[in-house]
This record gives sequence, structure tokens and C-alpha cells, in this order.
Amino acid sequence: MPQYAAVLGHQPHISIAELAAVVPGFTLESIEQTVVALFSADEELDDDCIDRLGGTVLLARRITEADVSMSDIPQLLVNECGKVRKKVTFSLRCYDVPSKLIKTAYIKGKEAFKSAGKPCRYVGNEKKHAAVALLHDSDVISGKKGVELFIVQTASQLWVGRTIGAQDIDRYTWRDMDKPVRDTTVGLLPPKLAQVMLNFGAWMVESERDNKKRKKHIVYTVLDPFCGTGVIPLECLLQGWHVLASDVSQKAVNGTKKNLDWVRKEMKILKKDVSDDVSKHDALKPFKLKSLPDMVVTETTLGPALTKKPTKTDVKKYLKDSEALEAAFLHNAAASLPGVPIVCMWPFWRLGGDVIRHEKIWSVAKELGYRAVLPAGAPVEDPEKLSLLYQRKDQFVGREIVLLLP
Ligand SMILES: C[S@@+](CC[C@H](N)C(=O)[O-])C[C@H]1O[C@@H](n2cnc3c(N)ncnc32)[C@H](O)[C@@H]1O
Repeated sequence: MPQYAAVLGHQPHISIAELAAVVPGFTLESIEQTVVALFSADEELDDDCIDRLGGTVLLARRITEADVSMSDIPQLLVNECGKVRKKVTFSLRCYDVPSKLIKTAYIKGKEAFKSAGKPCRYVGNEKKHAAVALLHDSDVISGKKGVELFIVQTASQLWVGRTIGAQDIDRYTWRDMDKPVRDTTVGLLPPKLAQVMLNFGAWMVESERDNKKRKKHIVYTVLDPFCGTGVIPLECLLQGWHVLASDVSQKAVNGTKKNLDWVRKEMKILKKDVSDDVSKHDALKPFKLKSLPDMVVTETTLGPALTKKPTKTDVKKYLKDSEALEAAFLHNAAASLPGVPIVCMWPFWRLGGDVIRHEKIWSVAKELGYRAVLPAGAPVEDPEKLSLLYQRKDQFVGREIVLLLP
């Protein structure tokens, strides 16, 4: 079984849940230094897998299960670069390895390439990992011009792999910051989180179809009925998925349209290949769609934008309003989108040490025939309320991600 290491994003529990949704036969072996997940899969992951994972920063494939030590690294570097014809670039990304040993491995690695008759240079050092952009630019991740070895000292072994993918930060920044319409008053969903939600949606669709192995590049149709300025629809188009988007606000609808037109032009995504339909619609009123979408993926309203810490009375009111809206939306979805799985987000608030979350909506969902689910292997905080909490330190409002299977 192929084994991998994933460097997790800043919400590691969500990154692991996403891996559990995407990776066929995902089995978590261990978590190292809170940021690296070592896991095995039933099959090899695609080269472009990293581009679809919002919660994984970097991915490495294990190259040896032998009992190796840091003194074997120079030879492993040379072995991994057998096909590189010209000057080799190499790098070492180490976790829990003493810096003295890393420094020696860099020096001995250089010597080993010299003995093998290959000119080389290295990027990164014992104090700092090589910048991901540099690894992309120097064709190290693709393996064409070099290698980065990914090394983790676990309690029992030295785990050695090669880096096979790393998130392209510039591309995320581009689609987040360069799109023509950004509305900071409704809260901006990070594109990576939108990707995670879409992956959960695909997992739900496939688990319903009883497809243990999610086929590669299936094209889904997604409905986002609270689309705002369209982060989720935009991610759909980038994945080649059809999208139906709506919002009660005309300003939001116009914003989504502009953003989708922009991404189509930038990425040459043609309507004949990937469709979108953006309209004004109140998500609490029946959806009248020509055909049902495969899934709903949406960030429902998070309440008013907060610039200062809310009081307990404020939060009680926000919660009451939100519970009412979520319940009305679920009633509507159950009636007019029968059988469609829903990935949604409910706001929650942290006040002092307390977490104030939705309570009543759970029984509403149950009565309407929805079951909250998470992929096997996802970290579960409360078995009574299967969900994942997403919150950044600088925000007063968090997002509770809930996967509802009809
Ligand atoms: C948190 S924002 C969504 C932001 C969005 N994910 C984005 O990428 O910009 C929630 C959106 O829900 C919309 N909304 C609120 N109540 C609604 C309703 N009853 N029906 C449809 N949209 C609604 C708001 O206009 C707002 O644009």
C-alpha cells in the first residue's frame, strides 16, 4: 500500500477530514509534530491531487520502508535523481531531525552527487526548509531537475519520502485577491476552505452511490444558494464542475457573475465545457430547477459582520436568527431538493471560554430526514453533533461545517 505524508494546513482536523474524504482507503498512521500526517492509501494518488486539496500544504510519497538512518540520505538522493540529466537541485525537508544531522546530510549529499558525476546545488538548509515557490520554479517537485526528500523522525523509525506536490500559494492569492468583486462585509470564504467543502460534497455523493473508490475527475453539478460574491462557484469552475448559484441580494448576484466571467477569461473556461447559472433567489423559497444538482455546497449567512467582540446578548440574538434561517432553509431543501446531500456552514461564536453553537437545528435536520456524517477517519469531537469547527484566531465568528446526507 502506498504511504504518504501530508503537511497539514492551519486547521489540521479539517485537513485530515478532507484527506479521509479524498484518499481511497485513507488510513492515518500517526501525526507528527501536530503538522505532519503519515497515512497509507489503497492506491497511488494522482500527480495533480495537491491542486484539489484545500487543507494539505504539501504531499510526499514514501520511497523506502527499509530501516534507514540519516547516513543513508546521500545515497537515497542520488538514487532518486537517476533520470536527471543536467545539474541536479536537491533539498531536505526534515521534521524532528537534529539540525547537525541535517547539515551533514546536505554536505554528504553534495559529495555523493559529485562522486556519481552529477553537478548539483541544494536549496534550503538545516535551519529553514526550501521555499515551495523555489521548488516549483526549479522543477524539483516534478522530479525533472531534482528531488526533495521528506524526512520525519518518528518514535520508531526514520520515515523517508519524496515531495510530490505542494500548494501553489500564488494561485490562491491570485483568485482570492485579484478577482474583480470582493465583499468583506459578508465575510470572505477562503478558497481553500471552499475546495475542502466541495471535496466533502463529492465524498457524500460517492458514498451514497457506494463508490468506495472515488473515480478521478467526475464532473458534478453544485448548487450554492447563498453564493455571496461566489467563492464556491469560482472553485467549481476551476475544477471543471457545473454550478448553479443564487443569492437573495442582487448585488451579490452581480458580484458572482462578474467574478465568474473574470475566471472564465483568465483560465479560458468555456461555457460549452463547464456551465454556470447565477440568479437572484431567496433560499427559503422553493427551488425550481430543471434538474436536481448532485450536491448543495454553501456558506449560509454568518450574521452581521463583527468589528468588535459581541456581548452575550448580541450572540443570543444572532444565534436565534441563524437557527430560524437554517431551519427554514433545511425545510425548503428537504421539500424542493429531495435526496440532495448538503455541505453547509453554521456560524458559532466563542465568548470567553464558551463556544456558542447551534443546538435546535440538529433535531430539525433529523426530523427532516437528514443524517450528519463525516468521512471515516475524520477527527470527531462530539459524536452527538458530527461537525468540524473552523475558526481563525483573529475572528469573533467561527464556521461549523456540517455534512447532511438525506
Ligand atoms: C456569508 S455570505 C456567503 C459568502 C460567500 N460564500 C462568498 O463567497 O462570498 C451569505 C450570503 O447569504 C445571502 N443570503 C442571506 N439570506 C439569504 C436568503 N434567504 N436566500 C439567499 N441568500 C441569502 C447574503 O446575501 C450573503 O450574500
